Amino acid sequence: PEGLRALLLGRIRDVADHPAPGVVFKDITPLLADPAAFSALTEALAELCRKHGATKVVGLEARGFILAAPAAERAGLGFIPVRKAGKLPGATLSQAYDLEYGSAEIEIHAEDLSADDRVLVIDDVLATGGTAEASLRLIRRAGAQVVGLAVLLEIGFLAGRDRVLTALEGAPFEALITV
Ligand code: PRP
Ligand code: MG
Repeated sequence: PEGLRALLLGRIRDVADHPAPGVVFKDITPLLADPAAFSALTEALAELCRKHGATKVVGLEARGFILAAPAAERAGLGFIPVRKAGKLPGATLSQAYDLEYGSAEIEIHAEDLSADDRVLVIDDVLATGGTAEASLRLIRRAGAQVVGLAVLLEIGFLAGRDRVLTALEGAPFEALITV
């Protein structure tokens, strides 16, 4: 609904030239600091968990954790972290992905997912879609089913949507706000 979009968008701050010249950083910290906006966001994400019949929520380190963990708890679901390489102590699956300069790697504890799990992936921002795409690969490699990808904010001009729609293989992409 428009009211939710306006509430959320009004609490996201544009920071020019961060972290590099020419980049406009989308800062969600004002939204997180506002209890009404944070609660509305958490409930909207929990509602997506219910709508898509998720059994687990995967959040993407680091900013995705802040959104995904309370949404999972509110929906009565378990939370599974996808972490940057080298952080998880157990047996992990790893997935490399390209960044604008160089590459990165993310990991998941494979034992946290099983074949009958229906996973909703949650992150804060979709930009190029590289991070989300890699997470979808990880979940499939862990043998679970992806029921959707949800983000607070989609940055439209970077075409991340096209990339993740392919990776979603028909599962829905939900962006609460697109700019
Ligand atoms: C940011 C953001 C998304 C990702 C989006 O995370 O939180 O996870 O980039 O970009 P993409 O669609 O081009 O992959 P970042 O890796 O900067 O780190 P953080 O979440 O740990 O702050
Ligand atoms: Mg991130």
